[in-house]
Amino acid sequence: MAARAQTFVCQNCGAASARWAGKCEACGEWNTLVEENTEGPRRQSRKGRPFAVEPLKGATHEAPRLGSGIVEFDRVTGGGLVRGSVLLLGGDPGIGKSTLLLEVAAAFTRGPHRAVYISGEEAVAQVRLRAERLGLAETAVEVAAETSVEDIVATLSHGPTPRLLVIDSIQTMWTQTVEAAPGTVTQVRGSAGGLIRFAKRSGAAIILVGHVTKEGQIAGPRVVEHMVDAVLSFEGEGSQQFRILRAIKNRFGPTDEIGVFEMTGVGLREVANPSALFLSERDLGSAGTAVFAGMEGTRPLLVEIQALVAPTTLGTPRRAVVGWDPNRLSMVLAVLEAHCGVRLSGHDVYLNVAGGLRIQEPAADLAAAAALVSSLAHAPLPADAVYFGEVSLSGVVRPVPQTAPRLREAQKLGFARAIVPEAARSESLEGFALSAIAALADLVADIARAGAPALRRAGRQDT
Ligand code: TYD
Ligand code: MG
Repeated sequence: MAARAQTFVCQNCGAASARWAGKCEACGEWNTLVEENTEGPRRQSRKGRPFAVEPLKGATHEAPRLGSGIVEFDRVTGGGLVRGSVLLLGGDPGIGKSTLLLEVAAAFTRGPHRAVYISGEEAVAQVRLRAERLGLAETAVEVAAETSVEDIVATLSHGPTPRLLVIDSIQTMWTQTVEAAPGTVTQVRGSAGGLIRFAKRSGAAIILVGHVTKEGQIAGPRVVEHMVDAVLSFEGEGSQQFRILRAIKNRFGPTDEIGVFEMTGVGLREVANPSALFLSERDLGSAGTAVFAGMEGTRPLLVEIQALVAPTTLGTPRRAVVGWDPNRLSMVLAVLEAHCGVRLSGHDVYLNVAGGLRIQEPAADLAAAAALVSSLAHAPLPADAVYFGEVSLSGVVRPVPQTAPRLREAQKLGFARAIVPEAARSESLEGFALSAIAALADLVADIARAGAPALRRAGRQDT
C-alpha cells in the first residue's frame, strides 16, 4: 500500500504543515493543528481530455441576475443572485441564517423558479416546522436532509436546474474525493469545491451557510471565502431584534450595502427605514447621547451614539466600546486630551452604538466626541441636531463624503440642524441649519458653555 499523505492542517486558517506544533505558524492561533489526510484516493493516470476553447467575444449574456423580491436581501447581493454564482453566508449560530435562507428560497419559488433547500443539520420535519412558523409551508421550496456532496450533485443534475440551491451548512457536508473527517478544513474545502463546480456547470446559484465560532475551533469557513463569489455576514446582538446583512466580499456587486431585518415571532421582517427604528427609543434630552448621520453604502442611516464618562478610582480606567472600533475611541480620547483640554485619565469611558449596529465609518468621530464631552459635562446636546465629521490627530475636523444624503435623511426624520466639518458649509438645505466646526476644540467649547453650571457642579462633586 502506498504511503498516505498525512498533513497537519490549521483548522483556523487552513495552512498545512508536515509536523504538529502547538501554534500555527501562519496565523498564530494555538491548538488548531489537526492531522488530516489531505490526499484524495489515487486515480489511475489518464490521458488529458481535449475540450473546446471559445473566443472571448461571443454570445455571453450580461451576467443575468435574479432578484428574490426581498428588497433588503437584493440590495446587499447587488441586485439579486447571478447565475452560477456561489455565496457564503456567515454568522453566529442562532442568528437567523436558516430562517433568512428559507424565506429567500420561498421568494424564488414565487418567481416561479425552482429552489432547493438542503439541510445537513436538521431533519426535514424540523425545516417543515420552521416553514410553518414562517407561513411558508405552502410554497414550492423542495427540501432534503442530506450531507453527501456527490449525492446532492447527482440528484440535482436530473430535472430542471434549480435557480437557487441552499446548503445549510457547509460544515456538515462531506465529499468522497477527500478522506478527511467531516467538519475539517480539508472536507469543508473539498465539499465547497464540488458544489462550486456544480454551480458553474449548471448555472444554479448556491448559497452556503457557514458557522463562525470566535475560537476558530471548528473548521471555519475562512478557507471557503477565497473560493466563493460573495461573502455575506448576518449580524446582530443576541438580545436585540435587529439583524444586519452585510456584504464583505462581492465579485458582482458593492460591498458597503447593508440590509436591515427585524426578527419577529413569524420570521424576519424587512426594515425599510432603519433610521426611524434605530432612533425610536431615544432618550431625548439626556446627557451623553449624540445622533450620528452615517452612511451605509448608498443609504443614509441615523444612529444614536451613547457615552458614559464616570469618575473612577481604578489606576487604569476602563475603556469599553460596543459597536465601534476601540482604536478609534482611543484616538478620539487622545485628541480630546491633547488638543481640547479635556481630562479623561481619571474617568471610565463607555461608548455604545444603540440598536446593535456596528459603525465602521471614520465620520462617526465627531458624534462620538460630542457624546463623550456631553456626558462628562452633564450637558445634554440639542435634541434636534445630528453630527458627522472625521477627527484628525491634530484635532481638525475633516470633511467626509456624501454630505447631502446625510442632511436630507436628518431633515426627513425631523432634525433641524447638523454639526458638520467646515468643508460642508456650502451645502444648503431649506429650513435646515448647519454649524460648521473647524476644530474639535470649538465643539468642546460649545458643549462646555451649554453645560457650564452642571460642569462646575460635577467638578465640585468629583473633588
Ligand atoms: P435560525 O434561523 O435557526 O438561526 P441559524 O440558522 O443562524 O442558527 O434562527 C434561530 C433563532 O431565531 C431561534 O433562537 C429562534 C429565532 N426565531 C424567531 O425568533 N422567529 C422565527 O420566526 C424563527 C423561525 C426563529
Ligand atoms: Mg441554522
